[in-house]
Amino acid sequence: MSVWAILVAAGRGERLGLDRPKVFANLGDEPLLAEPLRRLEACPWVDAIVLVAPPGWEEPAILLAEEEGCGKVRSCVAGGETRSDSVRAGLEEVADDAVVVLVHDAARPLVSDEVVGRVLAPLSEGWDGVVPGLPVGDTLKRVGGDGGVEETVARDGLWAVQTPQAFAADVLRRAMASDKLSQATDCAGHVEAAGGRVKVVEGDPRLLKVTTEADLETVAGWLA
Ligand code: C5P
Repeated sequence: MSVWAILVAAGRGERLGLDRPKVFANLGDEPLLAEPLRRLEACPWVDAIVLVAPPGWEEPAILLAEEEGCGKVRSCVAGGETRSDSVRAGLEEVADDAVVVLVHDAARPLVSDEVVGRVLAPLSEGWDGVVPGLPVGDTLKRVGGDGGVEETVARDGLWAVQTPQAFAADVLRRAMASDKLSQATDCAGHVEAAGGRVKVVEGDPRLLKVTTEADLETVAGWLA
């Protein structure tokens, strides 16, 4: 079974307020991107990697992959306006004979072999896609523009979903091609919109998505 990983790293990451894209922010002594790259490279389940870089940053991204000895990186392409556009750009580079595509946010540096194993396993039971998630623990409220609570949302059965997300390659290709208008914020959303069956498995709190400086410090602390 050939498993291709698409590492989407093309977000601007404006909330970090840096002069460079988020994936080139420092995590310890290195650009954040080095961490997920190294981890996917070392993951025994992953055969090949497509790196989706911020437009104009393809060269530094390739250099970093070379410096890290990431021989599984087959291609590096510029991302698009939205995350979904970036995934589509990455999919163009995935080999026709790939069986499974794993899509991972570079902004979640601490991807582990365990979680990759967990999302791959149910694909052989016939699921179209598998995503890691954590049950929502906090009480959820819908809040209006003036800060007033509009409703309290029952949290039973609600999960916060992470990446890496695994899909049968043909299913993801079809869903990303057909579902161009939806506002889905993850690949599973496109597969669901196209009628696919998606399963949620246990995620990992360490798959925190780095959005703010405090998140960077949290992840750096976990690595120390
Ligand atoms: O923007 P958001 O935090 O949802 O981004 C999640 C992941 O998708 C990040 O790793 C980011 O680099 C990537 N992304 C992308 N292209 C975009 C927007 C986000 O590759 N246009």
